[in-house]
Amino acid sequence: MSSNTQIGRARAGANIALIKYWGKRSGSSLNLPATSSLAVTLDDLQTTTEVSVCADFSTHEVRLNDEVVDDPRLVAFLDHIRGLVGSDAPFARVISGNNFPTAAGLASSASGYAALTLAATQAYGLDLDANALSVLARMGSGSAPRSLWSGFSIMHRGERDDGLDAIAKPLLDADSWPLEVVIAITAHGPKSVSSRVGMNHTMATSPYYSAWVEHNEARLDDAAAAVLAKDFEKLADLSEASALQMHASAMAAEPGVLYWNSATMACLHAIRDARAKGQGVFFTVDAGPQVKAICLPGASSQVADALRGVSGVLDVHCTQLGAGAERL
Ligand code: PMV
Repeated sequence: MSSNTQIGRARAGANIALIKYWGKRSGSSLNLPATSSLAVTLDDLQTTTEVSVCADFSTHEVRLNDEVVDDPRLVAFLDHIRGLVGSDAPFARVISGNNFPTAAGLASSASGYAALTLAATQAYGLDLDANALSVLARMGSGSAPRSLWSGFSIMHRGERDDGLDAIAKPLLDADSWPLEVVIAITAHGPKSVSSRVGMNHTMATSPYYSAWVEHNEARLDDAAAAVLAKDFEKLADLSEASALQMHASAMAAEPGVLYWNSATMACLHAIRDARAKGQGVFFTVDAGPQVKAICLPGASSQVADALRGVSGVLDVHCTQLGAGAERL
């Protein structure tokens, strides 16, 4: 490699929304969310990324988990960052790896774009503040800015047309309320409909979409207050409602978008049963068939045992809440 190569390295944890983002503000190409969202960053599901930039490279090149990726969105993202430096800035080579299944409803795009934002800006020598990094990460994936922060964060929908206020802010760090997360894997392999396609289709065809946007946005402040008060029951009610309402809006699209399989549904019942028996646990589900059980500190091993016993569950992972993305 040429001596004028500059390198940036970063890692980021996946995040899981408790109050969901599902749909974009219309009329904008800036990937602006229609609603604000509230999420937790996870410790064990990590993306690690290295970016090299060098005058010898004639194009951008991206490898994910040892395979070359041909993704116009990734190229456009790298070109955007390159353009911030100048039209004659060098191209980038990216080597990235996930220690968990990619594109299977485990928020790999969030950790991926958060790590890429930090590594690429470092390689290009861009010195950006936290808000500018959030804006950049959002251009890659609407959920990525949340992975920049430890523990609980809020991604604000913002009001401005230029998107400068559509950024993530920290709410409560992981050590202040160390909830645990159990992930039940109910299918291997990539999901059939990406979140991008699923949300655009919901926006375009679901008669429930506008009700989803209005109601979800109204619940965000209550959920943030529940986090700050460490009111688990309140957070549980609001989070389960947000997940089910997101999926209801998608299922009501034409044709309906169905991310769940029968094991997904069985897990939801198992978690509801555990909660009814007094266990500190609630569920959420993203754009895929996997189920995430959010647990009070110390409750995850019993919840994991219960989910292992659900017919159709292939694997179970437990994780703590984690730190925000960082350069390495
Ligand atoms: O950031 P995207 O485009 O992968 O969309 C994320 C959508 C959900 O995971 C379903 C919800 C969320 O807020 O993370």
